[in-house]
Amino acid sequence: MTAATAVPAIRAAVEDAAEAIHIEDLHKKFGQLHVLKGVSLSARDGDVVAIIGGSGSGKSTLLRCINCLENPTSGIIRVNGEEIRLKGDSHGNTVPADRRQIERIRSKLGMVFQNFNLWSHMTLLDNVIEVPVHVLGVKRDEAIAYGEQLLARVGLAEKRDVYPAFLSGGQQQRGAIARALAIQPRVMLFDEPTSALDPELVGEVLKVIGDLAREGRTMILVTHEMKFAREVASHVVYLHNGKVEEEGPPAEVFGAPKSDRLKQFLRNVG
Ligand SMILES: Nc1ncnc2c1ncn2[C@@H]1O[C@H](COP(=O)(O)OP(=O)(O)O)[C@@H](O)[C@H]1O
Ligand SMILES: [Mg+2]
Repeated sequence: MTAATAVPAIRAAVEDAAEAIHIEDLHKKFGQLHVLKGVSLSARDGDVVAIIGGSGSGKSTLLRCINCLENPTSGIIRVNGEEIRLKGDSHGNTVPADRRQIERIRSKLGMVFQNFNLWSHMTLLDNVIEVPVHVLGVKRDEAIAYGEQLLARVGLAEKRDVYPAFLSGGQQQRGAIARALAIQPRVMLFDEPTSALDPELVGEVLKVIGDLAREGRTMILVTHEMKFAREVASHVVYLHNGKVEEEGPPAEVFGAPKSDRLKQFLRNVG
């Protein structure tokens, strides 16, 4: 390699090092239904990207494509610098080209859903250590030590041996956050983490997510909590009808929205 080509190559590597998620011109169709229509988005290390938008605008589908729970129809997704490889199957659908790659990519992502999804037949601590021990091969005592730290961090140290059914919704969701953190993900993905909670339990979960954001954790957060998004996000993306209608720093998106649709949306949710 000559000196002239070496410099751009090094620069590209340095830029990739900070790029946790990169999405380019993502399309997703369910049969005739064109749900994502060319979405581009990226998150560098330490970014908190908030995704807002009306019901049905494609927010969950976007997160599910990042986590390989849905296969995009076309477009590029890179996670942790690695582009998800897809291929066509005999029915004309896109499917993963390499299952092991999907496992590797998922191991970089901590996903927290709307409905907690703790495993009901396991204690809270067992929920937290399950994937590290049984999928990632972490030694059990190390996983327990780290799991206890994480439970302490979300305020659930004394609930380690309790089954999910005996926890409040807010406690379950904080437990789900600890479980997602236990794999030491590069990026946390949150899909409306507080929308299934009773109003009085929302604050304790937002507090935990806000603390993670302030610690510099990289995250993509789908939320209906506009005040919270304004406080913690470094970048806000407003999705409308499968497209990025407007995006920018929170002060601009919330303080000086340009698109009429976004203005209308903020009036309705605010
Ligand atoms: N698995 C699926 N099969 C068919 N349609 C789907 C599927 N998942 C989502 N959709 C449709 O895609 C659109 C976007 O859904 P979704 O991404 O869940 O929106 P949001 O999270 O913004 O409310 C909706 O019209 C929804 O009905
Ligand atoms: Mg959704």
